[in-house]
Amino acid sequence: MSRLARLCGREEFMQERLERIREKALADLARVQNTVELEGWRVAYLGKKGPLNEILREVGRLPAEERPAVGQASNRIKAELEEALGRREEELKTAELREAMEAERIDVTLPGRPPSVGFLHPITETVNQVVSIFASMGYQVVEGPEVELDYYNFEALNIPADHPARDMWDTFYIRQGEGQDVLLRTHTSPMQIRTMERMAPPVRVVVPGRCYRYEAQDASHESQFFQIEGLAVDEGITMADLKGTLATFARRMFGPDTRVRFRCDYFPFVEPGAEMSVTCVACHGVGCRVCKGTGWLEIMGAGMVHPKVLAGVGYDPERYSGFAFGMGPERIAMVRYGIDDIRLFYGNDLRFLRQFA
Ligand code: DAH
Repeated sequence: MSRLARLCGREEFMQERLERIREKALADLARVQNTVELEGWRVAYLGKKGPLNEILREVGRLPAEERPAVGQASNRIKAELEEALGRREEELKTAELREAMEAERIDVTLPGRPPSVGFLHPITETVNQVVSIFASMGYQVVEGPEVELDYYNFEALNIPADHPARDMWDTFYIRQGEGQDVLLRTHTSPMQIRTMERMAPPVRVVVPGRCYRYEAQDASHESQFFQIEGLAVDEGITMADLKGTLATFARRMFGPDTRVRFRCDYFPFVEPGAEMSVTCVACHGVGCRVCKGTGWLEIMGAGMVHPKVLAGVGYDPERYSGFAFGMGPERIAMVRYGIDDIRLFYGNDLRFLRQFA
């Protein structure tokens, strides 16, 4: 083989190697999956110890006239690979960014999680409604002690120690003896006395509050419950005022078509005494299961304040008269919402309570 031929052979051989390097490099590059692998690829092909540099080092051993061609070819391939690297890097970065964004994607169309907001207990709600109806008629709202003296709970309300009516109001005694009994009040009526002791007529108050009784609990009896008391005392107050006021209340509370019925009842602190019923909220007076076929629902006790009670607080019964009433908001809520067991209100079962949210 001539010298030229041998030399040509070397150059061609180098060119061929370069071409193989180029093909292999581009094929590997296409398989690179991420920027870490890409860096590996860069070091392998374009790094100091890479095949291109190796060839460049070998160029020095070629005859001078062959060097430029191999050098140029090698630089061209190096530039091509660098450009391919740049493109691939762009592609991979875009893909990785898209992947990261996909992973952190927020679905703005998903409904949010609503914060849980509290709401009033149905009995609190009922008390508030009753009280605000009377407040709008000029009644003042007052509250009194749940731990009460026998005197206010019974004596001053014309229920002396030996009176059989005490059986209606059996309670829990805190302390007993020497006529100084302390007990849990059985009704809000003691606040009639405390109010009249504190102020001169005219009096117009409503008294919401908790009461207690020594009671065998059942669907209509709780040993703890609420009452709302009312009292109006002035000169010239008659039974007509009682009826007008309570009928107005009933229509505001139960709807404008509500009719009321008063029947005689006995409470030691009123004379005459009455119970008031409203037309059944479910059947409007026709008769149904809720009203046990009568068309009426009894919702409160009421009456004209007994002259003995007025005299007991130093009001002149010849000059002043008044009416009083007392109702149970549990009973009112039961008839309004068609609830058949009073114990549901205090069972703290959220499935029940949430219905009033
Ligand atoms: N305090 C009575 C009770 O607990 C209810 C009551 C009846 C209150 C008649 C009154 C009234 O003011 O006049 O059963």
